[in-house]
Amino acid sequence: MTRHDGRLAPLRVLGIGGSLRRPSQSETALRMALRGAEDEGAVTEIIAADNLRLPLYPSPDMAAHPNVMALLAAVRRADGLILASPAYHGTMSGALKNALDYLQYLADDDPPYLDGRAIGVLATGDGTQAVVQTVDALRSVVHALRAWPTPMGVAIHEAGRTLQDGAVADERVAASLRAMGAQVVEFAQARRALHALASTSPKTTGVSTGP
Ligand SMILES: Cc1cc2nc3c(=O)[nH]c(=O)nc-3n(C[C@H](O)[C@H](O)[C@H](O)COP(=O)(O)O)c2cc1C
Repeated sequence: MTRHDGRLAPLRVLGIGGSLRRPSQSETALRMALRGAEDEGAVTEIIAADNLRLPLYPSPDMAAHPNVMALLAAVRRADGLILASPAYHGTMSGALKNALDYLQYLADDDPPYLDGRAIGVLATGDGTQAVVQTVDALRSVVHALRAWPTPMGVAIHEAGRTLQDGAVADERVAASLRAMGAQVVEFAQARRALHALASTSPKTTGVSTGP
């Protein structure tokens, strides 16, 4: 998108947290991943905690709920997303899944759902097994929403050792989170360049089958 001064608008990355717990380990990790996106020049936004308090999908009058409207508006303006969840009994939290179910409202958008956007996913857990399952479950949702999971996903097991006092204590984990955030932006940059190229290239009339 080009601004009125001719410069490209910064890319926007939205982080959606999956925990209402305060403080939240998964939100700490999410903020580190968003920092990786910011390092690549993106503007970031986060929906977590109180903003995640949504009526259960579906509920009467849910479309008029301010948190639902805010969620959908933030998703629509995002060029890429990062999803974060605590592992709850082997998969993502109900709060995050409920929020993601609201993306059904994007079904008739053009393009529909999250088509054309990259999404990074991360999970935190007390144990060693459920975080990987949670990352896989999140990637399944990304596929269902027609988006592109980043090559990097981050599963943080025994999270209490790594995520302390709102900080990521292990620099290797922090680097993985930032790298995932950077991949979301790199994908959005590539898509933007592709669209710019397509809009300036002359249309071809056929496909050459010659040597
Ligand atoms: C209801 C519930 C279920 C949980 N299930 C698992 C689990 O299956 N495996 C695991 O490793 N941790 C499990 N945990 C621990 C959380 O995933 C872990 O503490 C997480 O890092 C908390 O993130 P948060 O601070 O963002 O909420 C569970 C916690 C709760 C409250």
